[in-house]
Amino acid sequence: MKMIKKNAVHELRPTIKQVHTSPREIILSVHHVRKKLEVKGQATVGFLLHAKKRFRILFRTGCSCLMVDIGETRTSLRVITQGKIDEMLYEVVKGDVDTDPFLNSDREQIYWLSIDKNNNLIRFGKGEMVAELCELEFDYAHLLEEGKMGWVSLLESFSIAGNFNEEELEKISPLYNRLPVTTSAPPIIVDNDQINLGLIDSNDATVVNNLSTECAHLYNNVAGRNLTLNTPDFPDFSDAINWSIMTEGAVCHTRLLEKSVSLSDDRKKQCYLRITIGENLGDSPGAPYVLEIWPGQHYSPVHRHAECHAIIKVLHGSLSCRWFKSLQFEENKPYQQAVLSSGQVTWLDPGQFQTHQLYNHNIVGNMCATIQCYKYSKLDFEHYEYFDYLNEDTREVCQFTPKSDWRYSDFKEQVCAEWIAYKNSSQKNNLGIFKSKSENHLMKKVSS
Ligand SMILES: [Fe+2]
Repeated sequence: MKMIKKNAVHELRPTIKQVHTSPREIILSVHHVRKKLEVKGQATVGFLLHAKKRFRILFRTGCSCLMVDIGETRTSLRVITQGKIDEMLYEVVKGDVDTDPFLNSDREQIYWLSIDKNNNLIRFGKGEMVAELCELEFDYAHLLEEGKMGWVSLLESFSIAGNFNEEELEKISPLYNRLPVTTSAPPIIVDNDQINLGLIDSNDATVVNNLSTECAHLYNNVAGRNLTLNTPDFPDFSDAINWSIMTEGAVCHTRLLEKSVSLSDDRKKQCYLRITIGENLGDSPGAPYVLEIWPGQHYSPVHRHAECHAIIKVLHGSLSCRWFKSLQFEENKPYQQAVLSSGQVTWLDPGQFQTHQLYNHNIVGNMCATIQCYKYSKLDFEHYEYFDYLNEDTREVCQFTPKSDWRYSDFKEQVCAEWIAYKNSSQKNNLGIFKSKSENHLMKKVSS
């Protein structure tokens, strides 16, 4: 199983160095990350670790520092001003708050701290470094007015402090984003001629230029109006796929039955069809372009995307998308969800929306077709080839190899052939009788 890598959030590959042991009341070893904030007083820093005891994340400048002290039942924001004893700004106690800014001593977790000098906000969260996963927020504007905390705009480095042994320390992965956590990019992408002032203001959609260059590359390949499922040479393709799913003996129905054999009785609908388009270019987990067919009520397990960038466009029908904090059974509630309709496009990258579940909420007989495009980050030199997923039968995180059920051309040819055979048999009042005819002959008829 793969967990989140060191470069999961943008460019940081820092090392951690022990600086000193705190002489203060609580003895914690301080480990400094060799990375300066690109802009003083603003950044989001995180650490992926399995912390079994209370620890701290610190921003520092000179003799002053701002920190979050994370415990299983108490978490506090604290400051040290000009080397004096540390003082508490704000504390939350388990049971008194609806959020969960506490230590998960039983598992690995990303803990992050954001400092935002423009909006005077300190934010602490867990999981992906996005506003939706903020668990604790503190506005220090009133302290600035009292002449305190002006040094926050000078914060320039960051550290982690705790009682970690050598083995634990080796496994800690620091994360860094040059920007603070503010409004997150929304999941829906629209063309630049569709964006308007209302959408920008409501943050209900974004344009692809706001996302990674990898996402922009993929989007420009599939977002065009002509990239559709039904085409002039086969205008009934979507109807034919629905028929093939619903008809015993037809290719989609047969393949779905084969795929469901290994699934438990409760999860027979946890499968879909993967039709690959083009070759594996060595820059994505499996083929870079995949047509996915989701029969009504079928769904995927909760899964991650090998730290890659992806674009998903709905070609036919509609689909529910649910996003999760991380790939862990303990995090089984989505923190965000959306329904995507035909023509709509969503995205993911190593830092946002990386763990999701897709579900065709429509009734049986109404399939949804999507085009999924994948690309590794240009900073990814590992190229992990699997989509890790939660196996709810075994309660394990398993690896899914992104295989192909068909090549696109083969799939279209087979579905087309059986569709024409069905139409011909219907015309002869032989409804329900499926006659196999020469596929080549039928394909000629379709394209003529
Ligand atoms: Fe996915």
